Amino acid sequence: MAYQIVLATILPWWAWMLIALVLIAIWDIFIQKKHTIKHNYPIVGHLRYWLESIGPEMRQYFVANNREELPFNRIERGWIYASAKKENNYEGFGTDRDIYAHQHVFIKNSMMAYKIPQGHPNELDPSFVPCAKVMGAFNNRRKPYRPASIVNVSAMSFGSLSAAAVEAMNIGVKKSGAYHNTGEGGLSPYHKQGGDVIFHFGTGYFGVRTPDGNFSMEKMRKLVDENPCIKAIEIKLSQGAKPGKGGVLPGAKITHELAEIRGVEVGKDVLSPATHKAFSTVPELMALIEQIADETGLPVGIKGAIGKLDQWEELANLMLKTGKGPDFITVDGGEGGTGAAPPSFADHVSLPWVYGFSSVYRVFLERQLTNRIVFIGSGKLGFPAKAAMAFAMGADCINVAREAMMSIGCIQAQVCHTNRCPTGIATQNKWLQNGINVPLKSDRLAQYFKTFRKEFLEITHASGYEHPCQFTMDDVQVNLDDNELNKSLAYAYGYNKAKVAFKGVQELKDCSYLGGK
Ligand SMILES: Cc1cc2nc3c(=O)[nH]c(=O)nc-3n(C[C@H](O)[C@H](O)[C@H](O)COP(=O)(O)O)c2cc1C
Repeated sequence: MAYQIVLATILPWWAWMLIALVLIAIWDIFIQKKHTIKHNYPIVGHLRYWLESIGPEMRQYFVANNREELPFNRIERGWIYASAKKENNYEGFGTDRDIYAHQHVFIKNSMMAYKIPQGHPNELDPSFVPCAKVMGAFNNRRKPYRPASIVNVSAMSFGSLSAAAVEAMNIGVKKSGAYHNTGEGGLSPYHKQGGDVIFHFGTGYFGVRTPDGNFSMEKMRKLVDENPCIKAIEIKLSQGAKPGKGGVLPGAKITHELAEIRGVEVGKDVLSPATHKAFSTVPELMALIEQIADETGLPVGIKGAIGKLDQWEELANLMLKTGKGPDFITVDGGEGGTGAAPPSFADHVSLPWVYGFSSVYRVFLERQLTNRIVFIGSGKLGFPAKAAMAFAMGADCINVAREAMMSIGCIQAQVCHTNRCPTGIATQNKWLQNGINVPLKSDRLAQYFKTFRKEFLEITHASGYEHPCQFTMDDVQVNLDDNELNKSLAYAYGYNKAKVAFKGVQELKDCSYLGGK
């Protein structure tokens, strides 16, 4: 203290500031060699880097208009935040969208809406919308599964998400009757909070892995036996943000907990190869699906982003020939999210959802296979009107990843790949994730799902239907290029979806497989 007082009396405060600035200038001009801007404009050159670093936040708060931002604009985010908090999620004065814009979608309302009869399940619960199809029914799996919610949490691993975020999501799906896809990182204790789980694995086989990095059927069987929360298994072929891209999990990130869950060694780099070791051809994939289903009794599905169709055609032909095949297919759009991916992949590899889904659905439709398969869609579909479009095209369920993250507080900082997520959701930093109030955030996810289903059902009723599975491609129109004006999806994409066998919501409610019971 005495030392500081002496210094302060020798020189006034501004002189110390001046000395600091001179030192920075000397550093900028003579010592650092990396930045030309700092060398040429000492001191003020630093401002450029600082302003650049806070640019996204400044644009988001002050500059970008309500509909401008990507991946999710302010209106979309606001709708999720308000829905999750059960706040007023309406807008006043009318739409601010240019409804004549290319690709704008319209759902055709009925002259008179569907009237809910007395005693109907939706009279008691206006957000009860289970899946109209049962996973594993066609293939006679021992434990078929009818998802009790048409909206669910998409694959996101513990590792890419924090423990607190995974826990909040699992409790949230339990509260809203949905399921929780584990993502590639294995089944963690945070996934076991009571919600239904779809166990997902990719080329790293985390959680079901032999020491040399191959798939272990023994571990798969044991995992399913010990965890009745697992209702189905999903084999990841690819995801929209980075199809065919492998990855490395650096040893520094592999803690004891992560190593235990993923079945890898502490502190040692782990490779997720670009391709699977357990199969290389479509018949081998089909064989693995059947083996896993036989061993576990569970429905088995695949997830893929769509590009070329030849191998999908081969799969469909084989399904036709053998009478077997995946129980569900998750189609991810090229606009899909990720914890980390190179921009060249995220921006350009694989088709956007509407193009990818419509082309792959047709492959199965042409062979009359659609009723065997539960089609799940993901890729910014977590909004009721978009979900209506997806159902009209043939989707039976929607998976949401980033929308689920937003419902528990994600602010779209887009730094998932840096371990510095400010909301504690996509980070392993203990300090940052300690800010997550798990019970509160689980309520938020549950409320988002309930509001989503209620609003989706209201759109369904407005269109004259009892359940979203009844939407057809003629019920939705899309603005095509100017000379085509506005045409139905059936016209634009050249097919109509196959009719889903549906007798009434009551039958779905009475189903003994509802929620995998
Ligand atoms: C943080 C994060 C982690 C993800 N991890 C996986 C994964 O492990 N496996 C996978 O197939 N997809 C993964 N995805 C992709 C999502 O499951 C989903 O398919 C995609 O984001 C599209 O859904 P959305 O538009 O609702 O986010 C991840 C996405 C995010 C944002």
